[in-house]
Amino acid sequence: MKTLTTISSVREYCDEARRNGARVGLVPTMGFFHAGHRSLMDAARVENDIVVVSLFVNPAQFGPTEDLASYPRDLEGDAALAAAAGVDVLFAPTVDEIYPKGASRTTVHVAGLTEGMCGVSRPTHFDGVTTVVAKLFAIVGPCRAYFGRKDFQQLAVVRRMAADLNLPAEVVGCPLVREADGLARSSRNAYLAPDERAAAPQLSRALLEAASAIEAGERDPARVVERVRAIVGAQPLLQLEYVEIRGSEELESRDVLDGSFVIALAADVGRARLIDNVVVTIAEDGVTVDTGIIADGS
Ligand code: PAJ
Repeated sequence: MKTLTTISSVREYCDEARRNGARVGLVPTMGFFHAGHRSLMDAARVENDIVVVSLFVNPAQFGPTEDLASYPRDLEGDAALAAAAGVDVLFAPTVDEIYPKGASRTTVHVAGLTEGMCGVSRPTHFDGVTTVVAKLFAIVGPCRAYFGRKDFQQLAVVRRMAADLNLPAEVVGCPLVREADGLARSSRNAYLAPDERAAAPQLSRALLEAASAIEAGERDPARVVERVRAIVGAQPLLQLEYVEIRGSEELESRDVLDGSFVIALAADVGRARLIDNVVVTIAEDGVTVDTGIIADGS
């Protein structure tokens, strides 16, 4: 595996690969790899000739009071994990390489999908994400790019950006990866003190309970949301920021539960802000629930 830090070297590598007929898959990340990141690398490895993983803690997607400075980093460990996953190129640029002379004057904004849910407490976050992802697409030129359904709103926003801008890359959504006790894998889980770590799986339990209620016939979104609030509220170490039910593609609010929708939440646990979701589909032949997959490795 090559670790490259400059835009020109990655461009050169990917141009050459494409000239030779290779299909390039891209996995954008902020590093501190865990089983969630690994699952995206595995999917990209299967479906492409060349796999590029970008590792860039993107300042543009952090708010002024957020955890940019303390975001966990481990370039050596990450390089080892990426190499073990069969990644061809780890692209780990500096901030100056991506944003020369300070902030970019150009931002990519996806209207409509970015104001609600996480956008309420993080009003500049998604513009930072879409701007850097658009830049990465332009640098790497992937035919496919891989994103986790753990960041459900992010996936919907990136999909919409790629469609609206006619970007020539397929955006591939991958399953949410959980630890054995149900906690969604996140680089920010590293912030949790032992008592907070023990409390955190209450978030996924609340979502599973909500999905079970729907499977049992509940069709009132307000009652489902109340149930999640009550379960999360029973654990004093969890401060729920929001729980919402939205359409699974356009993220529209839902008055009635039918078709495919996501039950998504964000909560503060100590200094970690955690998100989680389950996707429910109500069809004529029954209810299906996508809770993601368990992978307790690193
Ligand atoms: P990061 O949080 O490092 O996540 C990188 C990718 O891994 C994202 O697509 C995310 O959805 C996926 N991922 C994280 N945890 C996961 C889990 N438990 N299961 C499945 N997939 C998971 O998301 C970002 O970085 C950034 O916003 C980025 C897209 C790189 C833009 O800067």
